[in-house]
Amino acid sequence: MIRHPAFTVEPWCVRATRFDLDVLSQVESVFALSNGHIGWRANLDEGEPNGLPGSYLNGVWEQRPLPYAEAGYGYPEAGQTVINVTNGKLIRLLVNDEPFDVRYGTLHEHEMVLDLRAGLLRRTVEWTSPAGRRVRVESVRLVSLTQRAVAAICYDVQVLDGPARVVVQSELVSNEQLPEVAGDPRAASAVPDPLRPEAHGSHQLWAQLVHRTSGSGLRVGCAMDHVVEGSNVQSVAESHPDLGRVTLTAELKPGQRLRVVKFVAYGWSGVRSLPGIRAQVDAALASARQTGWDGLVAEQREALNRFWDRADVELDGDSEIQQAVRFALFHVLQAGARAEGQAIPAKGLTGPGYNGHTFWDSETFVQPVLTYTSPRATAFALRWRHSTLPLAKERAAQLGLRGAAFPWRTIHGEECSSYWPAGTAAFHVSADIADAVIRYARATGDTDFEQSVGLELLVETARLWRSLGHHDAEGRFRIDGVTGPDEYSAVADNNIYTNLMAQQNLRAAAVWGHRYPGKARDLGVDEEELAQWHDAADAMFIPYDEELGVHPQAEGFTEHKEWDFSVCTDDDYPLFLHFPYFDLYRKQVTKQADLVLAMFLRGDAFTAEEKSRNFDYYERITVRDSSLSACVQAVLAAEVGHLSLAHDYLGEAALMDLDDLEHNTRDGLHIASLAGTWIALVYGLGGLRHYHDEGPVAFSPLLPEGITRLAFNVFLRKQRLRVSVVHDGATYTLESGDPVRLLHHGTEVVVTERAPVTMPLPRTEPRPAPTQPRGRVPEHRGTGSAGAPTRR
Ligand code: BGC
Repeated sequence: MIRHPAFTVEPWCVRATRFDLDVLSQVESVFALSNGHIGWRANLDEGEPNGLPGSYLNGVWEQRPLPYAEAGYGYPEAGQTVINVTNGKLIRLLVNDEPFDVRYGTLHEHEMVLDLRAGLLRRTVEWTSPAGRRVRVESVRLVSLTQRAVAAICYDVQVLDGPARVVVQSELVSNEQLPEVAGDPRAASAVPDPLRPEAHGSHQLWAQLVHRTSGSGLRVGCAMDHVVEGSNVQSVAESHPDLGRVTLTAELKPGQRLRVVKFVAYGWSGVRSLPGIRAQVDAALASARQTGWDGLVAEQREALNRFWDRADVELDGDSEIQQAVRFALFHVLQAGARAEGQAIPAKGLTGPGYNGHTFWDSETFVQPVLTYTSPRATAFALRWRHSTLPLAKERAAQLGLRGAAFPWRTIHGEECSSYWPAGTAAFHVSADIADAVIRYARATGDTDFEQSVGLELLVETARLWRSLGHHDAEGRFRIDGVTGPDEYSAVADNNIYTNLMAQQNLRAAAVWGHRYPGKARDLGVDEEELAQWHDAADAMFIPYDEELGVHPQAEGFTEHKEWDFSVCTDDDYPLFLHFPYFDLYRKQVTKQADLVLAMFLRGDAFTAEEKSRNFDYYERITVRDSSLSACVQAVLAAEVGHLSLAHDYLGEAALMDLDDLEHNTRDGLHIASLAGTWIALVYGLGGLRHYHDEGPVAFSPLLPEGITRLAFNVFLRKQRLRVSVVHDGATYTLESGDPVRLLHHGTEVVVTERAPVTMPLPRTEPRPAPTQPRGRVPEHRGTGSAGAPTRR
């Protein structure tokens, strides 16, 4: 979309300079505001036209049936889906007797700006009504990062060319009409009218609605209050079961304004009473009113100043990526910042795609970014996982296993995938959670977290692996019949990614068990169990194809027939919408990085030579039908010396939503791919690796021709390290904390405060570029030009 002429390339904002109905739903996702607790799609203030109306609360869901043509033991019985809660964004406008509607009359100007430094969505519209009255509307919206139950809008209407009677109707609407669901399995399954009215009220400029969900039994409250500026403004408030409305009328002379500040508060609970919820939302509203609009804006700016000070990534040479990485970081922050006690869904709170479920995306893609930039958010997300441990243990028991089997997709903690080959069988999610625990602990040294949350997560997941695998006659520890990250293979034996991640999980559980013997004993861990984990890890089976000299992603994979790409056209992607799974499963074709991801997360288990050979082999068969793939390919492309290709994959990850590359941005943003922008830059071009608790953090920075400078920060324990890379060298600056010992391309460097160290970059010879499947060559980013848009 940023290739759309209405979009500009700017370093600190995303701007749509005109209104285009054709990209409305994508714009609603791209410009969405959220704080991880409340999510508001960027629907127009007046509500219509809309692509997909959406207001979400993290953790508010409804049950939906999971019908099976053929039932089987252990199939999840009910699904969970995010619901569209009460819409508090609506502000309708009547100019004389005509509704302000951009589809009628004359639209002179329509601009939307997502201001990434201010955390505001600004909209400016100039419009002449069909009867000829010209008005200017300026609205500014925020979802507060400092007051998590609060959102607010400042709405300003001015009559330009003659007197007019204007009526502003500020509303709360529940059970909004939603458009029909498309046939894409990744879209949401809508539950019609999910909210049962429970209470409503209104008074002066205030209104409140409370509802309940039937199946999940959640109570949801929403309230609004207003501050109005303008002369002789009349107001009336009303409420009905699904509608709260405050109507303001004013006679405006040319140049006069009516300014309305709308404060909105949300609250929900599965346990609190009706009076409890009513009080909760009113309290949040009172706090917002006391802070006032200017105060909320100032708080938002301060919160973002702190965030950018920690997390900003600077880049010269490719201005689209500079914009995209800030856009990405902003949305990663929005998805995780105040999730506190809830999951980070695959779409954040920007749309209903994937039914609002959280997947391994959170631990493997989003949390690495948060761990090094906003570690508190990672701790919260892992504490949420920990809170679902009883359900994961129940699930393991149901499957005849020990320990905890975390769900492939869920909102509340129960498995919600009805397709077990790419759901329950994708057991790697449990090792991914362990990986996030290990990374977080290594980066922060948060021992309280280790003891209260981390250890138990490691122990219960290690138990799962020990019971899921077995030692074969040769003593090898095998994990048979599981699905790895590549969903175009299923129920395979000894998926290398799964085995290596399980190995790390088992080893870490054993190490932590020794580190915290008392706590481990409380969890029922004894010496015998610790020894079993060690043995299983040491004997983990890693298949290798001697003939080809590459690792099969699972046992036997490289013996499968190769997929015939010569018959595929560009329209055949994603393949899963055009070919049967049974055929994808039995051929060599890879939906997304699988072994390549293993070479990133467990890079310590491969030699440099193996990485190069494997990478080139899997490039030929990886179609990137998942948005999670490009960033991982970028990381490994950089490591094995395909720097220009790394730049191309970085571009694909970064522009996934800004350019709507998968044609489903309407359903919400791809938060993991957005996080992948940072991953591609920091792990990829920056070469960040941290494989061992005792070992130093390592960087191996290298830049492709088209990027002339890259600078980023990472937080390690209490140290804040800035890494700045140009083609001639890399400078490490310790901005605060004790001296850091690190590796720069394998050479040990000690960095102390106020004594930056600059190291040269090694010369690299470009290797012959590997090939990709027909129709799946990533778009080449060329050499770019500093400062100027690099649109091609
Ligand atoms: C990918 C999964 C991912 C899910 C949600 C699927 O297309 O294959 O790996 O977790 O999308 O993003």
